[in-house]
Amino acid sequence: MIIGLGPGKEEDKQGRPFVGKAGKFLNDLLSYAGLKREEIYITNIVKCIPPNNMPTKEEIKTCTSLFLDKQIEIINPKIILCLGNIAKDYIFEKFGIENKPMNKVHGKVFRVKGKIIIPLHHPATALYRPDKKDILIQDWKNLKSQLMWWLK
Ligand code: URA
Repeated sequence: MIIGLGPGKEEDKQGRPFVGKAGKFLNDLLSYAGLKREEIYITNIVKCIPPNNMPTKEEIKTCTSLFLDKQIEIINPKIILCLGNIAKDYIFEKFGIENKPMNKVHGKVFRVKGKIIIPLHHPATALYRPDKKDILIQDWKNLKSQLMWWLK
């Protein structure tokens, strides 16, 4: 399972996650990790466009308790990739992982309650912070051999 932040304009129009600019880059990242999009359940923390990409605590609470928590329960993913700070913060808290800044934990593997949880920079970060692009690509490339092992 991949968890992003929330829909952008294009995602809102189509009613599907990661189909805009960040989604195109996500497709490239998936291929670096040897993954096919159709193999993965992709969703978001919030389900409507958050103003300035910053949902309030209350919006996060509403969307996660009504939707995301149930999605996780039903899909029961073995691996959760958290894209960006908001997904990381929520999933770390939910699974009782000590929170640290993304710079310290991106690409690291946390095994909790039978799940493998990996925080990664959000793909949109690379669109406005080109210095982060190489880090992101490297993290996804590093995932490839581990994923092959876990998903066997
Ligand atoms: N960014 C996200 O976090 N989710 C999307 O679905 C699209 C862009």
